[in-house]
Amino acid sequence: MKPVRVLAVASEVYPIVKTGGLADVAGALPLALKAHGVEMRTLMPGYPDVMRLLAGATEIRRWPDYFGGPGRLLAGSHDGLDLFVLDVPHLYDRPGNPYVTADGVDWPDNGVRFAALSRIAADIGHGLVPAFVPDVVHAHDWQAGLAPAYLHYDNRPRPGTVMTIHNMAYQGKFARELTGAIGLPWESSFDVHGLEYFGGISFLKAGLQLADRITTVSPTYAHEIQSDEGGMGLGGLLRERAGVLSGILNGIDIEVWNPQTDPHIAYRFGAQDLTFRAANKAVLQQQFNLDSSDEAPLLGVISRLSWQKGLDLLLEAIPTILAEGMQLALLGSGDRDLQDRYKAVARANPGRIGVMIGYDEILAHLIQAGSDALLVPSRFEPCGLTQLCALRYGAVPIVARVGGLEDTIVDIGEAGTSGRDATGFKFGPVTADAFAGALRKANAAFHDKPTWRRLQLSGLATDVSWRNRAGDYAALYRDLMASRA
Ligand code: ADP
Ligand code: GLC
Repeated sequence: MKPVRVLAVASEVYPIVKTGGLADVAGALPLALKAHGVEMRTLMPGYPDVMRLLAGATEIRRWPDYFGGPGRLLAGSHDGLDLFVLDVPHLYDRPGNPYVTADGVDWPDNGVRFAALSRIAADIGHGLVPAFVPDVVHAHDWQAGLAPAYLHYDNRPRPGTVMTIHNMAYQGKFARELTGAIGLPWESSFDVHGLEYFGGISFLKAGLQLADRITTVSPTYAHEIQSDEGGMGLGGLLRERAGVLSGILNGIDIEVWNPQTDPHIAYRFGAQDLTFRAANKAVLQQQFNLDSSDEAPLLGVISRLSWQKGLDLLLEAIPTILAEGMQLALLGSGDRDLQDRYKAVARANPGRIGVMIGYDEILAHLIQAGSDALLVPSRFEPCGLTQLCALRYGAVPIVARVGGLEDTIVDIGEAGTSGRDATGFKFGPVTADAFAGALRKANAAFHDKPTWRRLQLSGLATDVSWRNRAGDYAALYRDLMASRA
C-alpha cells in the first residue's frame, strides 16, 4: 500500500507538553499509525520545554517578522515522534501552561499565537518543506482550527483536511477584527460559511466548516454534539455536516500504561497476580494519609477540576462514601473553588478522604494501580482516558453514562444484553443521586469477591490500545485521498 503522509497539528504533545488527553492522543497516534503505512509528523509551538527537549533540531526556514517578531521552523524528533516546531519566541517563549498566564487567565494574544501555528501548517500543506509534502493535514482542536481555513482560502492545490474535536467546550472565540490581522481575506472568510460565529469569529467553527472531514473521539460524542445542548452552539453546523462526521475512539499508549513494567508503581502486577494490587493500595493509602485497610474500598480520581468533570457531584456524594465505609483519593487541579472545597472535605475527614491538589504523573500511575475503583462522573466526556488506564490496571471504572464513557465501559447490568463482559458501573442521568446509587452498587459488588475479580479481569482483557483505532484513522485518510483524487 502506498504510504500516506499526514501533518498533524497540535498545541500539546505527550511526553513533551501536556495539560490533558489531547497531548496523550497527539503523542501516541503517530506511533500507532506507523503499522498502518501512515507517516505522520506533528507540528507544535516552540514553548520553552519544547525548545529545551529539541535543542538539536534543524532549522528549515527563518523569517525576520513572523506575526510580529522573528520566527523559525525547525524539524527534529523526540521519543520516536517526528516533529516540526514553530519557534516564535514573542508568541511561545513564556513560562508555565501553554494557554494561560500564572493567574489562570488566557493569554490575551491567544488568537495570534494559534493563528500563527495554523498558518505554518497550511504552508507546509502547500509544500513549504519539499522533503515532507503531506497528503493530509490533520488539525486537533481549536488551536489548529484555522489550518483548514488557510488552506481553503488559497487557490493553490491543497492536501485533504481533517478536523478532530477533542472538546466542544473550547471553541477559540475572538473578536472579528482579528480576521485581517492574521492574514485571512475579510471579504470571503468573515461569513456564516467561514469563520463568523455570533458576530465574532471561532477557530473551531472555521475548522468544522471548512475541513473535508470531521472526527471526534467517540461514536457517542459524535452523536451528542449534533444536538443543540451537546453542540454548544455548533450543533446545527454539525447536523449539516453529519455526512463527513465520524467518531473514532481514543486508545492509550499501552507501553506507558503497563502494570507489568510500570516504573512508577510500588509493585508491578498482571492478570495472574492481581493480589499484588493490595501492596500498591497500602502505599497509596499512606501517601494520601488514609487509614490502612484492605477491606475499605478505595476510590480514585485523576482529573482536571472543572465543571465538565462533574466533581461537584462527587462532593455531594461524600456522605454516601463515608456511610458505605469507602475511602477516596483524589488528584486534580483546576477551578479554585473546587480545589478549596476538596481541601476542606479532606481536612474534615482525616483517614477517609485524601486530596492532592496538583498535576503529578507518577502519582496518577499509583492511583491506577492501587485504587479499587476509578471515578469519572463527567457531565460530558468526549472520550476520557483515565477510565481506559483503569481498565488496564484492574481499577474498576464507575462512570457517567455519557460520550466515550458510554462507549468504553460495559455496565454490570448491561453485560448480558450486550454480549460483552461487564467491566464497570455506569450511571445516568448525571446527578449526585444517580452517582450515589452507583457507588452503593459498586460497594456491594466489591464485597462479593468473585464478582469484583470478574470485573477486574474483563477490564484487563479489554483492548484499550491504539492498534485498531489507528487503523480507523488510516482508513479515513485513505478514503479522503481517494475521494479527492
Ligand atoms: P481531559 O483531556 O478532558 O482532561 P482525559 O481523560 O482525556 O481528560 O485525559 C486526561 C489525562 O490527563 C489523562 O492522561 C490523565 O491521567 C491526566 N491527568 C489529569 N489530571 C491529572 C493530574 N492532576 N495529574 C496527573 N495526570 C493528570
Ligand atoms: C479532551 C476530552 C477528553 C478526551 C481528550 C482526548 O480533553 O475532554 O474526553 O479523552 O480530549 O481526546
